[in-house]
Amino acid sequence: MSLFDEPKNNISKINLFVDKKIKTEFYNDNFQNYKRYNIRKAQLVIADIPYNLGINAYASNPVWYVDGDNKNGESAKAGKAFFNTDFNFNIAEYMHFCSKLLIKEPKETGKAPAMIVFCAFHQMQMIIDYGKKHGFKNSYPIFFIKDYSAQVLKANMKIVGATEHAVVLYREKLPKFNNNGEMVFNWFKWQRDSKNIPKIHPTQKPVNVIANLIRIFTDEGDVVIDPCAGSASTLRACAELNRHSYGFEVSKEIYQKAKKEMLLGV
Ligand SMILES: C[S@@+](CC[C@H](N)C(=O)[O-])C[C@H]1O[C@@H](n2cnc3c(N)ncnc32)[C@H](O)[C@@H]1O
Repeated sequence: MSLFDEPKNNISKINLFVDKKIKTEFYNDNFQNYKRYNIRKAQLVIADIPYNLGINAYASNPVWYVDGDNKNGESAKAGKAFFNTDFNFNIAEYMHFCSKLLIKEPKETGKAPAMIVFCAFHQMQMIIDYGKKHGFKNSYPIFFIKDYSAQVLKANMKIVGATEHAVVLYREKLPKFNNNGEMVFNWFKWQRDSKNIPKIHPTQKPVNVIANLIRIFTDEGDVVIDPCAGSASTLRACAELNRHSYGFEVSKEIYQKAKKEMLLGV
């Protein structure tokens, strides 16, 4: 089996059958308004925070040009943002939210909560530093390897490698790690979703990738929160794996599409 062969547990092949006792709550709101909702504390907060790319969102992508060819001139995506919230994300508010909404440190070992933040490579240190200020003294990086990459067309464009990055943060005790006693690596395959998972968001994370992390860091019945839920792929993975989930998305357009397509039947 090669590294990128689909594993047997590819989640997007499972028909969506959700236990009605499992809560899946998705709010079209800023996560900072969380007090408006009755949210249970989480075992895991997982999010892909805005990269603050602003108007250079497509700078590593051929769609910057008409038909992907720079001879044709720039397309409507040149100089545009992925979404209008990709400018001024407040990381301190985000860490505050996580420190309030993660369960307290348990007495037992092997049950502590964790936070996973997907981010750009250059954001990793900033996240680690902000995490420390909010009580998350410990962290380690995780890497995801892809078998494809966006093309790099011009010297003035960003170079995008075939990896994605995230930081795992925790307070004192090691997080819950479920891997049947086997070692948990800090790298994962970037397992793409099959076609029956809708494509909703320009920076959508595959349900498969999120599901692998949820299996490791939580048990069935645990609570997971995604404060920047976008396509709601985290909520979808949680529903399929019998974890309660809460998600926030400020963009009305993305929220409505995600609710209708990604959470259909949830
Ligand atoms: C990088 S994307 C997340 C994509 C998501 N992981 C997915 O798989 O579709 C970040 C999302 O966070 C949303 N966002 C930005 N600031 C927010 C806030 N304060 N509260 C809630 N959502 C926010 C953006 O609109 C954007 O859709």
